[in-house]
Amino acid sequence: MKVDGTDYRTIWVSPDSESSVEIIDQRQLPHRFVTVSLEDVDAAYRAIKDMLVRGAGLIGATAGYGMYLAALRADDKRILEELEKAGSRLKSARPTARNLGWAVDRVLAAVAQLDSASAIRHTALATATTIADEDADFCRMIGEHGRSLIATIAAAKQGQPVNILTHCNAGWLAFVDYGSATAPIYAARDMGIDLHVWVDETRPWNQGSRLTCWELAQEGISHTLITDNAGGHLMQHGKVDMVIVGSDRTTRTGDVANKIGTYLKALAAADNEIPFYVALPSSTFDWQLAHGTDIEIEIRSGDEITTITGLTKNGTMESVKLAPDGVEAANYGFDVTPARLVSGLITERGIVAAEESAIGKLFEDKLRDARSLHGTR
Ligand code: MRU
Repeated sequence: MKVDGTDYRTIWVSPDSESSVEIIDQRQLPHRFVTVSLEDVDAAYRAIKDMLVRGAGLIGATAGYGMYLAALRADDKRILEELEKAGSRLKSARPTARNLGWAVDRVLAAVAQLDSASAIRHTALATATTIADEDADFCRMIGEHGRSLIATIAAAKQGQPVNILTHCNAGWLAFVDYGSATAPIYAARDMGIDLHVWVDETRPWNQGSRLTCWELAQEGISHTLITDNAGGHLMQHGKVDMVIVGSDRTTRTGDVANKIGTYLKALAAADNEIPFYVALPSSTFDWQLAHGTDIEIEIRSGDEITTITGLTKNGTMESVKLAPDGVEAANYGFDVTPARLVSGLITERGIVAAEESAIGKLFEDKLRDARSLHGTR
């Protein structure tokens, strides 16, 4: 990913000191590009909980590095015990994105049999780095596989721009690099395909207007911001060729939890016979779950609905009230799109039907590992 022409990842170990991890404070975008140093696991926990970092892949990568920071600061004699505690704390930061618990458990499993504190620290860093590198690599592969879907539509449209609708931010800001939903878009752009993206605003946190629009502008991709309710209208008028969104947690049967409002886009797409694809690295699969209704949905503070924060004319960031004092607001962070509404899952191993046996076949090894570890529900 490039920010004003400079190469970045969304998380990296400081080149000046291996004991601090750098992130971009996404609450400040698109108005300010601010990086923040995480020095301990508490800072990693706060960064996830307060959404300085967000998006399934980046939450997982931050959790991985958070475990490394916990190992660095832990007492030598109690290091494994302290890591267990740190893992439980990190897991409690946000409930829906699968990658959080997955990354914590991966670091814990990697260090479990080690007996020296230095080996544990070394392995925790190596594992966190692998999690981040894999996330970037898997998203790059999602781009390789997904671009063919866009190319097919472009060919049918004989060079007219392909109009893609996306919800929230499943771009490189939500992962370590490339993004999931955006990876096929960037890969198709690199093939010379003419593209245009409709960006849902994504109330209340406005990941679409604040982050996806900024990210697409950095990439030079033509895009238009729309309200969350506009998608159905655009679809009825032939202005959307396909929908690509991300996933925070995917059941082994292909149900997908993603940012609140995704389900309504899937319903509108089905009604208008528009392909609805979900792009996801396999780290979002929850192999234990067969029913999307069992996915825990994050409920955030109602203040995110009743107020809004933005840049004033004076260049300061301020919050203003939108709703009457004392109003009750229910802020559901995610919803579940049932597999029957999903045209296909774009994964690092290829495009697969949102259906248990097809997913199980493509990811036989991962399903088997999960079954031997936890069984399934
Ligand atoms: O609350 P967020 O910003 O962490 O939620 C992120 C999303 O739901 C995105 O839509 C994205 O698709 C998932 S990131 C893999």
